[in-house]
Amino acid sequence: MSAPVQFLAPAARPDEEELEQSLRPRRLDDFVGQERIKEQLAVALEATRARGEALDHVLLVGPPGLGKTSLAYIVREELGVGIRTVAGPALERKGDIAAILTALEARDVLFVDEIHRLNRSVEEILYPALEDFRLDIVVGQGPSARTLTLDLPPFTLVGATTRTGLLTTPLRDRFGMTFRLGYYEVAQLALIVRRSAGILGVQVADEAADEIAARARGTPRVANRILRRVRDVAEVRHQGAITLEIALEALDLHEVDAIGLERADRELLEAIAVKFGGGPVGLSTLAVALGEEQETIEDVYEPYLLQLGFIQRTPRGRVITDLGRAHVGAPTADESLF
Ligand SMILES: Nc1ncnc2c1ncn2[C@@H]1O[C@H](COP(=O)(O)OP(=O)(O)OP(=O)(O)O)[C@@H](O)[C@H]1O
Ligand SMILES: [Mg+2]
Repeated sequence: MSAPVQFLAPAARPDEEELEQSLRPRRLDDFVGQERIKEQLAVALEATRARGEALDHVLLVGPPGLGKTSLAYIVREELGVGIRTVAGPALERKGDIAAILTALEARDVLFVDEIHRLNRSVEEILYPALEDFRLDIVVGQGPSARTLTLDLPPFTLVGATTRTGLLTTPLRDRFGMTFRLGYYEVAQLALIVRRSAGILGVQVADEAADEIAARARGTPRVANRILRRVRDVAEVRHQGAITLEIALEALDLHEVDAIGLERADRELLEAIAVKFGGGPVGLSTLAVALGEEQETIEDVYEPYLLQLGFIQRTPRGRVITDLGRAHVGAPTADESLF
């Protein structure tokens, strides 16, 4: 049996990655929703451009697929500067970050994804680099060790993380702007679906776009992924244009339910409800039971289930709520007493 498609998971295949890139909004005006963030960013960008300086460091926070990477690239595009992208965990040694910093040009953007996963020594190199555009390098060892100071060009660090709580305070304090991305409204997602359909060159009926949006759990990446799977069904089994019926057929094929939950979400709810008697169950136990990484459960599955009020995080572990039980057809706590 093949693994189910996971609409929220990071792009696993190169061709998926490429498609995601082609659908990425390039300019601030193409970026749908998050109005307050766009407004604040637009002002900062304009002021920065007028002064000819580097933009202040920006921290982007939010669940997967809400547009953090897109915004980082938009900043670069709007400023007309270069960008260097790295993933936090890929920077293993001080030398890695030093090499990247010294290769930056004035006003460039350095985009560090998963910035909460930077290693400690790399982070310490960043502090003076962010504050004073200075790189302190220790040369030699023991009593003859000396610190060499290198000047760096002024640059902008754009950091992305799924949760701010994971960042150390000194690092968090060095960002001049922190933007928290929230889940999108259905109408905004429908707009994204229509825009993406245009880019993909596929016709989509309004009701079909609305249905895809309603099941995209507030997440543009999910909306785009569902659209592509619906397009597959439309092309393979029908004439290519997407009608509401075809959208429903594809959603059914991929086991996306009426509120956008996928099989993995329902398995998580069922595990808490049935296997662990409603909870509380610790994250590590739950991860083992589901055969998933703890981090995936916390970052990918839980945020939306929490937002729906289907589960709760308590100091003793995860619990399922009556709403959550009702969704997977498990008896509520009261009913199971009898
Ligand atoms: N506001 C938006 N308007 C239009 N499309 C969007 C928007 N936000 C995200 N998207 C679409 O969703 C896709 C995923 O967004 P992006 O890669 O920026 O998310 P992310 O927050 O970086 O996710 P992750 O945490 O997994 O890295 C993009 O390729 C883009 O097509
Ligand atoms: Mg990203």
